[in-house]
Amino acid sequence: MSILQLLEIKHPILLAPMAGVSTPELAAEVSNQGALGSLGLGANTPEAAKAQILKTQELTDQPFQVNFFCHQSEELNTETAQQWIDYIRPQFEKFDATPPTQLNCIYPSFLDNDDYLHVVLETRPKAVSFHFGIPHPHQIQALKDAGIITMVSATNLLEAQAIEAAGIDIIIAQGIEAGGHRGIFNQHFDAAIKTYDLVQLIAQHCTLPVIAAGGIMNGDQAKAVLKLGAAAVQLGTAFVQCKSSSANAAYRKALFSQNITQISASLSGRPARGLLGTWHTQLDSPNRPKVPAYPYTYDLAKQLMSVASAQHDFSYGAFWAGSNVGQIRELEAADLVNQLVLEIKTN
Ligand SMILES: Cc1cc2nc3c(=O)[nH]c(=O)nc-3n(C[C@H](O)[C@H](O)[C@H](O)COP(=O)(O)O)c2cc1C
Repeated sequence: MSILQLLEIKHPILLAPMAGVSTPELAAEVSNQGALGSLGLGANTPEAAKAQILKTQELTDQPFQVNFFCHQSEELNTETAQQWIDYIRPQFEKFDATPPTQLNCIYPSFLDNDDYLHVVLETRPKAVSFHFGIPHPHQIQALKDAGIITMVSATNLLEAQAIEAAGIDIIIAQGIEAGGHRGIFNQHFDAAIKTYDLVQLIAQHCTLPVIAAGGIMNGDQAKAVLKLGAAAVQLGTAFVQCKSSSANAAYRKALFSQNITQISASLSGRPARGLLGTWHTQLDSPNRPKVPAYPYTYDLAKQLMSVASAQHDFSYGAFWAGSNVGQIRELEAADLVNQLVLEIKTN
């Protein structure tokens, strides 16, 4: 069965799930054009995730995917956390604020309890994708029994082979160019493979359909990865600027005025690619202390972002973007999908 049949879409194009940027309106706009819309729900409570899915189902009768995080939960090392808080303290003091005394686990993993699974089983989106790892066997089985298509991000061949062995339906090959968090299973190991090379490698060694993600901003780039063995493409950065995303004004402005991105784990505790900000230029010095575990580190960063932005300093923002952000175009989501379809069809 082709990926178009599997996902019941007209075009081999997926909107990337983007926690903090996804909205039901953006997902529905993409799905209504015959591509696959998506909701990044990893930062939501199960109740909020359910509300977003129901809202999307009100806006479209077309298929869409939802996305959750499958990170291995780590205990917070209190000494590491204290050193990190002390390191970041002067940044808070710039705004006459004090950092929190403790860091919280702001996002539970899909692996840690079945509340998210129950939301998916109850609301039945067409597909569910996972970042940072593979769900438990009982979770995969329950999704299969419900007829929901499963997809997991891979950043190297070992992860792709583990995804295939687990009985997942589709592999998302996330190249090093990708905006947002690296989908790496082990946060201390990153093979850092380019999208084009990763697609070829996975397509050669695995039998599952492969979706290419990372650095794809136009139809020419999409065509190139489709030729290399990808069955479809997934774009994130290109859609962040759409009016129906929830990106704030500072983020939108930065997307069109900056074009340098960097991978850093200082914001969240896991490596993620975003536009250069204070984290990269001032805090990521080689002598900085070790960052606490994900997502505890993100708790601190989000509090600093909120303190700074209240005083109109947006340089601490988590402005996730892929390395080809310089090629971003100002287009509504429906127009962007139609433009990509046209460009893919044109020789
Ligand atoms: C703002 C933003 C948020 C993201 N959030 C998620 C997420 O919640 N879940 C996920 O699986 N991937 C997430 N990603 C990664 C995308 O799925 C995808 O790999 C990436 O956008 C592809 O690269 P591109 O941005 O160059 O198109 C995010 C990417 C961006 C840009």
